[in-house]
Amino acid sequence: MHCAALLLVQLLLLTSRTLADDVGFDYDSTNLAAWEHDYGHYPYRTFESSDLTPPAVAHKIDLPACHDGLLTFLTPRGTAVNESRGMVILDDQGELVWMQKTEGQPYNLDVQTYQGAPHLTYWLGDDTVGGHGEGDYYMLNSSYDLVAKISALDELHADLHTLSITPNDTAIISIYQPYEKEKGGQLQYIWDCLFQEIDIATNSLIFQWRASDHHDTSESYHDPRYKEEGASNQTHWDWYHLNSVEKDDLGNYLISARYTHSISYVDGQTGDLIWTLGGKRNMFTSDDHAFDFSSQHFAQFHSIDEFPSLIASFGASQAGITTRLISLFDNRNDDTWDSGLASRGLLLAISYPTHPDPNGEINKNDYRARIVHEYLHPNELIADSQGSLQAVPAVDDNQDPNILVGWGARSVWSSYTASSKLLCDTRFGTEAAILNGSVQSYHVMKYPWVGLPSEPISTVYNSDRDSLFVSWNGATEVVSYALQHNDNSGDYSADWIYISITQKAGFETEVVIGDCVTRFVRVIALDAADNVLGISESIELPFTSVSSFSLVALTPLH
Ligand SMILES: *[C@@H]1O[C@H](CO)[C@@H](O)[C@H](O)[C@H]1NC(C)=O
Ligand SMILES: *[C@@H]1O[C@H](CO)[C@@H](O)[C@H](O)[C@H]1NC(C)=O
Ligand SMILES: *[C@@H]1O[C@H](CO)[C@@H](O)[C@H](O)[C@H]1NC(C)=O
Ligand SMILES: *[C@@H]1O[C@H](CO)[C@@H](O)[C@H](O)[C@H]1NC(C)=O
Ligand SMILES: *[C@@H]1O[C@H](CO)[C@@H](O)[C@H](O)[C@H]1NC(C)=O
Repeated sequence: MHCAALLLVQLLLLTSRTLADDVGFDYDSTNLAAWEHDYGHYPYRTFESSDLTPPAVAHKIDLPACHDGLLTFLTPRGTAVNESRGMVILDDQGELVWMQKTEGQPYNLDVQTYQGAPHLTYWLGDDTVGGHGEGDYYMLNSSYDLVAKISALDELHADLHTLSITPNDTAIISIYQPYEKEKGGQLQYIWDCLFQEIDIATNSLIFQWRASDHHDTSESYHDPRYKEEGASNQTHWDWYHLNSVEKDDLGNYLISARYTHSISYVDGQTGDLIWTLGGKRNMFTSDDHAFDFSSQHFAQFHSIDEFPSLIASFGASQAGITTRLISLFDNRNDDTWDSGLASRGLLLAISYPTHPDPNGEINKNDYRARIVHEYLHPNELIADSQGSLQAVPAVDDNQDPNILVGWGARSVWSSYTASSKLLCDTRFGTEAAILNGSVQSYHVMKYPWVGLPSEPISTVYNSDRDSLFVSWNGATEVVSYALQHNDNSGDYSADWIYISITQKAGFETEVVIGDCVTRFVRVIALDAADNVLGISESIELPFTSVSSFSLVALTPLH
């Protein structure tokens, strides 16, 4: 009886504390009516043991396949997010795993391999430069400690769009630079785009590529928006807008540019364009307009082996012709381009001559592209900026990856089977925020990740509930918290007595203290095999006897 009465009081206390946009203690992520009407545009969570305010999520579609044990990585931004912006990792229920608030706006939280181990990477800096950013990339190890800062060389600034770490432990970063380019006897003032490949350990340049050396400004679909744009060194014209670069195992680069609506394959030795897909300089033929993407993001190569279900449909390989898959997020809209079509994810198959003759005729029939699958949102979302597509490797090698689409300016992510069946549809902003873009994330990604934070376990004593609220920001392996007490001493090495074990529940776990516990308490974080992962600081309870404790706890009833 005593315990039941206490629990009732506790529930009343916690729910009455709920703030306007705080979803509260008993939040149900499948209650879409509450999501739309009970909170502000950016419903968030609060905790007793932490001042973090991560996004809450609402599950509109949530099939069992969505619960794959992978974690979700995002960087919420937008006018409704401001105070709680930061880097966020959520579990497959949408519960917080790790969050770090930041002064500036972070972008592109990813897991990438460096020196053989998974690391977190992200961009931080000034993102108000006009569609790109001037900042730096940072790398954290699995204890969330900073192990590298990656900056552009030659007094340039790392842009927010892309950091790709290669198997050689080099970093490829996008860069925007105000630049003067002569054209027809006149100077054009442009935001030129570069990428640098940098050896992380020695901070030395491996390769640099400049867009205006290889693409003509007439390839742009993003005309100067007013008379002076690009005409003087006061206003530079954003004509190209590089937004993804990756290096393949042949040592060449695949790049995507938003404003030329094109994806180019760049020779890793000479920087020359090997081919261009899409845009005014498209070299490919297609029966289904596979090159008809626009304002796109995140171009990535895949080998056909990555999609076992597709292998049969490709038949025998043709001598001298390479066939590969390319995935991308096809915005089809931007600040000046309005196709009238909804954004989509795309999986394309392309083939091209393996060793094109640099001086020979181009045979258009050797360059072919087709759409393998497209991934549309049921609400026909239009993302006029940002957005991502990730092929999330299947656990089983014989299965296709799932496709995760982050809808950029729209606060939604969704997952599909490779063959376009919608599996999950998750929101981190309400319908109003989705429509007006007040909650966004440049990309949304999923990775496996193991974190063992160097920061301590956080415990707070709540006298109303006679509980410890416990959280450990970023600890992925904790399964339970054991409670210990000691009558005489709070020292680390005192003889602590085990009292109880509480299963970890979401980011924050309430560990009920219970009767006959006196003076000092602490919790031990345990993994699935009951190994000790961490020990909290001890807390001295504000009472000394069982009877006074009961009075304190029951006072709110009167
Ligand atoms: C968030 O930013 C908007 C616009 O800049 C501002 O009006 C609002 O007061 C900010 N909210 C908070 C909680 O700071
Ligand atoms: C992470 O880096 C910090 C600082 O260099 C180091 O003390 C810690 O041992 C590293 N953790 C791991 C798991 O490598
Ligand atoms: C722009 O051009 C003017 C005149 O040529 C020059 O005085 C000025 O320093 C330039 N500004 C920048 C930012 O390059
Ligand atoms: C890694 O370095 C080797 C040797 O320099 C080079 O041949 C290879 O192309 C590089 N691979 C990547 C992915 O950069
Ligand atoms: C988004 O819409 C809501 C509700 O109409 C409004 O309060 C908010 O200011 C809007 N935000 C932006 C960025 O337009």
